[in-house]
Amino acid sequence: MASSDYNDEKPVLMPHSYDGIQEFDQSLPNWWLFTLFGSIIFSALYWAYYFHSGVAVDDHTALDEDLSVLEAKQLAAVKDLNDETLWKMSRNVQTVAEGQAVYTSLCITCHGPTLAGVKGIGFRLNDANWVHGDTPTAIYRNISDGIVFDGKPTGMAPQKALGTAKIAAVTAFLLSTQEPGKLAVIPRSEEPSQK
Ligand code: HEC
Repeated sequence: MASSDYNDEKPVLMPHSYDGIQEFDQSLPNWWLFTLFGSIIFSALYWAYYFHSGVAVDDHTALDEDLSVLEAKQLAAVKDLNDETLWKMSRNVQTVAEGQAVYTSLCITCHGPTLAGVKGIGFRLNDANWVHGDTPTAIYRNISDGIVFDGKPTGMAPQKALGTAKIAAVTAFLLSTQEPGKLAVIPRSEEPSQK
């Protein structure tokens, strides 16, 4: 290192001595002070950003998000959709969000913004009662094939054109409000949105 300000002048020896150790009266080099104060400022900013800003994503959350993206991809690649896979999808935030987007663009007009149904039009989808089938695969089939009642097509037209992935996602979205084992079939006349 080239000569710097602090050692241009001859260092002055301080008068005291502790255990035979003496000390020069010399200020610390600026580069050293810079790293000291720099790290103090950095630690304060780090602490404020990661623990108090609400903006930073902590490692656990970031990992959970990554794993959920990975799981969503794995589930979407499953060829034979069954009840178990659809339940798993319904607990995956990515898949449920995709399904919600499909719901918002295509189903909301007849089934309502809160899935509570629209009187005289679409059935209620947020309670445990299902008219046309109470298993995940039955719900999937009702969306994909549409619903025929008394030999006549109902307002629930087939959605097959959406493709398996989107139908599975919207099924997962509907199931995300449900608990496995709690779903039940009710008679069509008992469906609350039709009374
Ligand atoms: C044009 C209105 C309309 C649209 C749009 C619509 N549905 Fe329906 N849906 C209905 C009607 C009407 C029924 C009840 C059929 C009947 O009369 O038995 C129904 C029934 C259902 C059922 C069966 C409910 C049960 O209790 O068994 C599911 C599940 C369902 N719809 C999901 C969806 C999804 C998901 C979408 C969007 C992709 C959608 N629907 C779009 C009108 C609609």
